[in-house]
Amino acid sequence: MSLLAQPLKLACGATLPNRICKSAMTEGLSDARLFATERHNRVYRAWSEGGAGLLITGNVMIDNRVMERPGNVAIDPVDKFRPGFEGFERLKAYAAAGTVAGNHLWMQISHAGRQSPWYVAKQPLAPSEVQLDLMGNYKKPRALREDEILDFIQRFANVARVAREAGFTGAQIHSAHGYLLSSFLSPVTNTRTDAWGGSLENRSRFLIETLRATRKAVGADFPLAIKLNSDDFRRGGFTFDECLQLVEMLNAETLDLIEISGGTYEQPKLLGADGRSEDAMPLKQSTVKREAYFLEYAKAIRQVAKMPILMPGGFRSRAAMEAALASGDVDVIGLARPLCTMPDLPKKLLAGSIEEAPAHEREHATQSKNFITKLINLLGQMGWYYAHIEDLADGKPIQLNRSIFAAFVRYMKNEYANAWRMQRS
Ligand SMILES: Cc1cc2nc3c(=O)[nH]c(=O)nc-3n(C[C@H](O)[C@H](O)[C@H](O)COP(=O)(O)O)c2cc1C
Repeated sequence: MSLLAQPLKLACGATLPNRICKSAMTEGLSDARLFATERHNRVYRAWSEGGAGLLITGNVMIDNRVMERPGNVAIDPVDKFRPGFEGFERLKAYAAAGTVAGNHLWMQISHAGRQSPWYVAKQPLAPSEVQLDLMGNYKKPRALREDEILDFIQRFANVARVAREAGFTGAQIHSAHGYLLSSFLSPVTNTRTDAWGGSLENRSRFLIETLRATRKAVGADFPLAIKLNSDDFRRGGFTFDECLQLVEMLNAETLDLIEISGGTYEQPKLLGADGRSEDAMPLKQSTVKREAYFLEYAKAIRQVAKMPILMPGGFRSRAAMEAALASGDVDVIGLARPLCTMPDLPKKLLAGSIEEAPAHEREHATQSKNFITKLINLLGQMGWYYAHIEDLADGKPIQLNRSIFAAFVRYMKNEYANAWRMQRS
């Protein structure tokens, strides 16, 4: 049996039917009330039928004021998400559609922190007042008070409980990519001098307390995972060495899976892309040429981590996926972009009928060293993938011939229109 096809039993008792995971991709498909829609159901049904053993939703927000983007689903206020309420019934339909093929569907639970653009958040919230400087798109955040941190810990837990009640089969706490929990881990964005800043122990307190509260809310038999940066790849940020220390601390928590990623909006290494050169910390040279760009990091994390490791980031060929599993450094392979243009890729990989997923991001990458050009190209690429998610959600055929510039324009237009709709509702 191919290693990709082997089931994985988790500590909570649940079993993943195979080793392929659709990693989180923000969908932008909510209605103006931030409820899930029929469009979620359609795209998640396609992904469920596509064969991955585990699907992880895009960012689901705990705070409807500070979201990652317009069109996110938000579970806020949580007392409006009880059986019989429309928001809850929509989640139930979403969970049912996303598990039709007997796979797992986990909700990624998130707060955007300082990475919430001006057309979404009147006031971003963060550990400290350190503004994200990216084309003027982000306002200066306000530092959270302690009572707000405590409230947010409970919100993460409550949203996970709602996810379970609605039929999602697990929860993933998003603590990567510079969003709120991840920004608490970084000394650049967390300059607090209270119990929530300073030492690594203090900077990770919010995350650890969130995991404990969430485990208490969902019970011992429900899969609970985390997405964590291996490194922020930013000078002065959360480092790989700190990641290893944190993983050791996380061993004491009851976690079923850890997903390893890296980077933030400033250094978008999660997509294998470069950010601003002034404050960048490079990827290990051996990693740059590799297909799966966090593999070197997983190897060292494996030495420390007691829980299974899920790794996304550049996997495209069956050979590289099988080799990563065979090495024992990785337990589950994460795939994101390839599933936008080929939702049944997992099925094909498992059947051995395809050797490699198309890597459109390579075709579309710019050679320019100019930061603004690189940024527009990256947003265009994101827009290109979003357009495919929307097509899947609308049951339309896959259209590979869109230009990156057209995708960029469409993306920006949609974001502003959705933000406008959201504010008027
Ligand atoms: C369109 C798009 C949306 C994404 N949204 C999220 C998200 O909501 N949460 C998250 O943790 N990662 C998100 N990511 C990152 C992916 O989960 C994944 O880590 C990354 O794309 C690398 O995997 P890949 O090379 O297979 O695409 C997103 C990536 C893409 C391309």
